[in-house]
Amino acid sequence: MIVYFSGTGNSRSVAFKLGREGEKIVEWNEDLAKIEDERLGIVFPVYCGDMPAGLIGSLRRAKISAKYVFAVATAGGSAGRSLNSAAYLMREKGLKLDYAACLKMPDSCIMFPTPEAEKRKLLDSEEERVSKIASELEAHAEKTVAPKKPFGFGTRAMWYLFRRVAGKIAYKSAGAECVKCMLCVNECPVKNIEVKDGTISFKGACEDCYRCIQSCPVRAIRFGKLKVTDKTYYKHP
Ligand SMILES: Cc1cc2nc3c(=O)[nH]c(=O)nc-3n(C[C@H](O)[C@H](O)[C@H](O)COP(=O)(O)O)c2cc1C
Ligand code: SF4
Ligand code: SF4
Repeated sequence: MIVYFSGTGNSRSVAFKLGREGEKIVEWNEDLAKIEDERLGIVFPVYCGDMPAGLIGSLRRAKISAKYVFAVATAGGSAGRSLNSAAYLMREKGLKLDYAACLKMPDSCIMFPTPEAEKRKLLDSEEERVSKIASELEAHAEKTVAPKKPFGFGTRAMWYLFRRVAGKIAYKSAGAECVKCMLCVNECPVKNIEVKDGTISFKGACEDCYRCIQSCPVRAIRFGKLKVTDKTYYKHP
């Protein structure tokens, strides 16, 4: 079984490319009560140097039993401590993270856009790079990392700066631009967006996955004061 989380599609694409024929591939968007399989794969984007917070919490609460466990992080730069966190979470369950890898992909964050030429290179080579990981997984290769407690000081500091720099933890829909197409409401993986008094409203459970921002057809959604531009737009094709 593969559990993935994905905002803009990178990790989703990788999860499906890694999946074997007939293997269950599940998008994390709510509590994972029980995971029981021969192999478990966890695929996710790196956010501020760690795993997405909601996924960490959900894995922590889940009952997991698997013989071979792997984690693949997708990142605009590097895995940070996200894979160490995955190893830590597995150790909490008495399991070992047998294989950990990071795949560089275009950056989904509108503050650090990947240049167009680099984006193309990364996407063009994705298939080959994922195939290499898939072969290693088939061979039950061991690639371990040291377990480290999730959300260490560095991660917390990055989140703080990220939100401060961007202006406050405030996603807003610009009333004038929003055409109430409901795409963001339907697409938010954690159902954090609703219509309230006729306008798009954000609740308090945002994972900062950027799916809504990058999906809005009229680019009405802002992160603080920032808006998507042609240069910062990204969704996995
Ligand atoms: C809020 C946010 C924070 C991010 N932080 C990092 C980071 O610390 N390091 C990094 O290499 N990439 C970072 N990224 C980039 C994503 O990890 C990367 O683009 C990932 O492949 C996106 O996957 P997805 O398309 O499945 O959502 C960040 C992206 C977002 C939206
Ligand atoms: S996706 Fe954009 S236009 Fe559509 S409802 Fe959301 S904010 Fe409004
Ligand atoms: S509100 Fe937007 S950024 Fe936050 S979790 Fe939902 S889709 Fe992702």
